Amino acid sequence: MTLALIVVAAGRGERLGSHFPKAFVEVGGQSLLEHSLQPIASLSAPLELVVVAPQSWVEPAREISERALNSTADIRVVPGGATRSESVRSGLEAIGPEVTTVLIHDAARAFAPQDVFQRVIDAVEAGAAGVIPVREVADTIVPVDDQSRTDHAVPRDELRSVQTPQGFSATALRASYDSFDGNATDDAEVLRLAGYEVIAVEGHEASHKITYPSDLEAVRRRLSDNADLRVGTAVDVHQFDPEARLVVGGMDFDGPGLSGHSDGDVVLHALIDALLGAAGLGDLGTHFGTSRPEYAGAKSEVFLKEALGLLAGAGFSPRSV
Ligand code: CTP
Ligand code: MG
Repeated sequence: MTLALIVVAAGRGERLGSHFPKAFVEVGGQSLLEHSLQPIASLSAPLELVVVAPQSWVEPAREISERALNSTADIRVVPGGATRSESVRSGLEAIGPEVTTVLIHDAARAFAPQDVFQRVIDAVEAGAAGVIPVREVADTIVPVDDQSRTDHAVPRDELRSVQTPQGFSATALRASYDSFDGNATDDAEVLRLAGYEVIAVEGHEASHKITYPSDLEAVRRRLSDNADLRVGTAVDVHQFDPEARLVVGGMDFDGPGLSGHSDGDVVLHALIDALLGAAGLGDLGTHFGTSRPEYAGAKSEVFLKEALGLLAGAGFSPRSV
């Protein structure tokens, strides 16, 4: 497989209302374009990168891309067009003939995590013509006509919202754009119009597209939220008890077990203590100790669920950073 990634960053960002193109707006000290390239730097497969930038931003885009990837190899920066589809076409023209898999990504989805890139690549490698990352829809969706009259809700179970990066077989993508003459808001639709099948993989909340000022505000809040990050550490010790079960990290193992009021799971106990401690909410003993006979012999997953509930009640949630 030879992989190419096209990042489209040539939009004006009218709905954001900034003084310069959206991909060059900074948040957390870096432009959205630079953020969008972060996961690519650590992808295992080597790749050709094509960045599509507004005509007068080609040079800044090149500097940003070289800095993000820490290399000048296989980076091409080309000017975009008036519509997203035109920008994609100009990116497609810049990739080499040896490329077999093409990923297309919106710079505006600047925080799409690396595992989404990997899922999409894997599904194309497994033979799909087109692959899109999707999310379940949380809101009820109804049609509204030009008189503000609403109609029946669309069955939500069948609906998904669509994100990028989207992945394609290079042959299918080229053939689809060759027979397409319009503007589509995403590339999978161009494939469907040409008769190809597009499959869905799990997307990610963080891949949300930055479109309005409120989206940028939410990202700024999330990044500065890390300043309030609390970290907890803990240890747990139990005696061996040949009569007891051995449960570690929620899993059963053979061998001498560990004694305890509950299932004696040292890993989950330490984790719960660390979470409660970080939030200043006491420890395992405070909430689930011997003073609570109803917990005798309980599985520690029960404590973990309750501890997460206590954290949520105090406004905390565990985060992987
Ligand atoms: N895009 C592009 N060329 C265009 C239009 C859009 O490369 N002529 C890119 C944008 O840079 C963005 C992605 O396509 O990364 C998704 O587009 P959108 O979120 O609509 O961005 P903008 O078009 O910049 O925003 P707006 O529609 O508010 O002007
Ligand atoms: Mg747009």
